[in-house]
Amino acid sequence: MYSIKSEVPASWRQINLDGEMELNECERRQLVGVRWATATAACQVEGGVREGGRTESIWDVFSQRSGAIYRGESAAHACGFYEGHWKAALERLQWLGVSDYRFSVSWSRIVPSATGEINEEGVAYYVGIVDDLVASGIHPIVTLYHWDLPQWLQDEGGWLAKRAVAEYCRYVETICSALAGRGISWITLNEPFCSAFHGYYTGIHAPGFRHDESWLDVAIVLLDAHLGGVRTIRRLDPSSTVGIAINLSDVCVDSNEDQEAGRIVDLVENRLFMDPLLRGVFPSDAPVFFGDERWQAAVARLSHPIADNGMDFIGVNYYEQHIVATAQGEEAEIGNAVKKKRLGLRSANGVAVAPDGLRRVLERVSHCTTLPIWITEIGIGLHDYLDDNQKCHDFERIYFYRENIREIAHLRDSGIDVRGVVFWTLQDNFEWSEGYSLNYGLFYTDFATRMCIPKSSAIWVRDFISSINSASSN
Ligand code: FCB
Repeated sequence: MYSIKSEVPASWRQINLDGEMELNECERRQLVGVRWATATAACQVEGGVREGGRTESIWDVFSQRSGAIYRGESAAHACGFYEGHWKAALERLQWLGVSDYRFSVSWSRIVPSATGEINEEGVAYYVGIVDDLVASGIHPIVTLYHWDLPQWLQDEGGWLAKRAVAEYCRYVETICSALAGRGISWITLNEPFCSAFHGYYTGIHAPGFRHDESWLDVAIVLLDAHLGGVRTIRRLDPSSTVGIAINLSDVCVDSNEDQEAGRIVDLVENRLFMDPLLRGVFPSDAPVFFGDERWQAAVARLSHPIADNGMDFIGVNYYEQHIVATAQGEEAEIGNAVKKKRLGLRSANGVAVAPDGLRRVLERVSHCTTLPIWITEIGIGLHDYLDDNQKCHDFERIYFYRENIREIAHLRDSGIDVRGVVFWTLQDNFEWSEGYSLNYGLFYTDFATRMCIPKSSAIWVRDFISSINSASSN
């Protein structure tokens, strides 16, 4: 009997979860050949922030700011991967039966200070992880930047420092040379929109600037770093594959009067990244929206041609569908636009369950590029807890994954090349400004003991992967 947690929005009660939780035969057939993965990011799981020669990242410093993180929590210990809990995590990956594991490297573990000296202990840690994965038959997808800029670089101006892109490329060179030849899939950056917009404009992410117009310059510099990173990887690890993970949202409007507001949100959140990365051009409406002078100054920061991308795949992180309206008196969020509060099926932090949005986003990507598509993150935030029997019944997450996977099957049926799906995330971890309060994991983490328990969704994912795998061997 499936039951709904009282903590999630009441709309979940309308869903009959006792019904068929499985995919049908036809959907399964479309999914044969897809790679199923899960992921973590260094800052969210490693802990050991002062161990092994690592120095502070911008998130360690941001966490000390009063009010920045829910309940004043920090990533200081997180899931303790660096402190010895990685091996148990590896067992969980094997238990799930995933083909790939996406994780990120902490830059300040590799290059701890402004002198640029390499911390060999940090390099060895990641070589160990990759060796463990390869020995277990799990393919590594390595994200080179998942939001944790070294604080020493932030002190020089962060991504706007003169040497930021050169330093990023040097760091990529170090880690790439150490891991070359192992057939890794590299991801240059995770969600550059969030680093730039939330780091400099909304201020909810490190480094926590608010209403700083230079967020646009940061966005362009991140694109430049990506372009430099791709070249570095190509040179040093030619047999690898390389891509980027951008977050794209489905932007909808309810009425004609809101079209303009919708266009602006789409420009800022999607097209600013999607157009240069997939079509090699910037959106033609960008100079008017940002102002010609501001726009020209930002793009002047590019040191690599955007037309020459050279990626092997495009990674899309899909979380959100926005219903956008024109601000009526309330404070606008982007340009003159506001995002409407969601009703209906949604996560614990108010994000709608919208597989139709995933479909639209990926159809759009496929119109812009012939590159294979990886869904490099998909997941739902809930307030998960253990019941008296030490079980975590997250049926909302199963429902969420099943509906989205169904959409992926239909997309593949219509010829869209979705190659891989990464369930965000392996286990509950440090969820940035939400601290440990919002859970995305397939495994429940007890942060006091680091004990992990598979949630109902983990069991569902494991059984799902094994059933698809056996369908492909028949
Ligand atoms: C994404 C981040 C990831 C995680 C999920 C919930 O934006 O890339 O680290 O926090 O959201």
